[in-house]
Amino acid sequence: MIIAIDGPAAAGKGTLAKALAVYLDFSYLETGLLYRAIAKKILNEKGNVNDIAFAELIAKNLRPGDLEIEGLRAEIIGQAASKISSILGVRKELEQFQRNFANNPPNSKSGAILDGRDIGTVICPNANIKIFVTASIEIRAQRRLKELQNLGAEVIYAEILAAMIERDRRDERRKVAPLAPAKDAITIDTSLLTEADAFDSALKIIGSKKNL
Ligand code: CDP
Repeated sequence: MIIAIDGPAAAGKGTLAKALAVYLDFSYLETGLLYRAIAKKILNEKGNVNDIAFAELIAKNLRPGDLEIEGLRAEIIGQAASKISSILGVRKELEQFQRNFANNPPNSKSGAILDGRDIGTVICPNANIKIFVTASIEIRAQRRLKELQNLGAEVIYAEILAAMIERDRRDERRKVAPLAPAKDAITIDTSLLTEADAFDSALKIIGSKKNL
C-alpha cells in the first residue's frame, strides 16, 4: 500500500506522515531531504545552484546516506533545494529511487508513505491514498519560525514569511512537477487543527478507502 502526502512548506506533512508510518508500521520517505541533500552538497562544494549540469551530476551520485548529512533543515538549504528542484534532470535522477522505495518498502514493511510536492501527481500516480496537506501562509510561517528557533537559529517572522511566499510561488509555478494536489487527492487544511486532529482526519480518509 502506498500513501502519498503532498503540500507546501511547513503545512504539517512530515508530522502527519511520521505519525501515520508509526501507527501503520509502514516505511516513511521524506522526499524533500533528497532535494535538500543535493542543494547542501552543491553549496558545500562552493557550486552554484543555477549550474544545471553540476546539479544533475550531484543528483546522479546521491546516496541514501546523504539524507543523514547535518544541517539539511536550515532555511538557506530549503531555498536552494527549491531552486535545484525545478531542474528536470535532477528530478529524473531521483524518480527511480523514490518509486523503488514506494513499491518495495525497506525492511519488508507492508506499505510506504512518501511526502513531498509531486508524489501523488508524478512519482506515484497510482498511490492507494493521496492526501494534500495545506494551511494558511501565516500559520505555516509561524510553525517554521518555531521549528528553526528550536534548532537554535536566530530568525525573524517577517523574513520567514517572505521566504516562504517566494518558495511556494517557485514550487507552484515551475514547469516540471509543480506543487499541486492530484485530481484524486483529499485535502486536509491544518490551519486550525492540532497534530492529533490532522492524524484523525488522515486515518478517516485511509479507513474510508481501505477498511483499516
Ligand atoms: O520541509 P519543507 O516542506 O519546507 O520543504 P521540503 O519538503 O524539505 O522541500 C524542500 C524543497 O524541495 C521544496 O521547496 C521543493 O522545491 C523541493 N521538493 C520537490 O520539488 N519535490 C519533492 N517531492 C519534495 C521537495
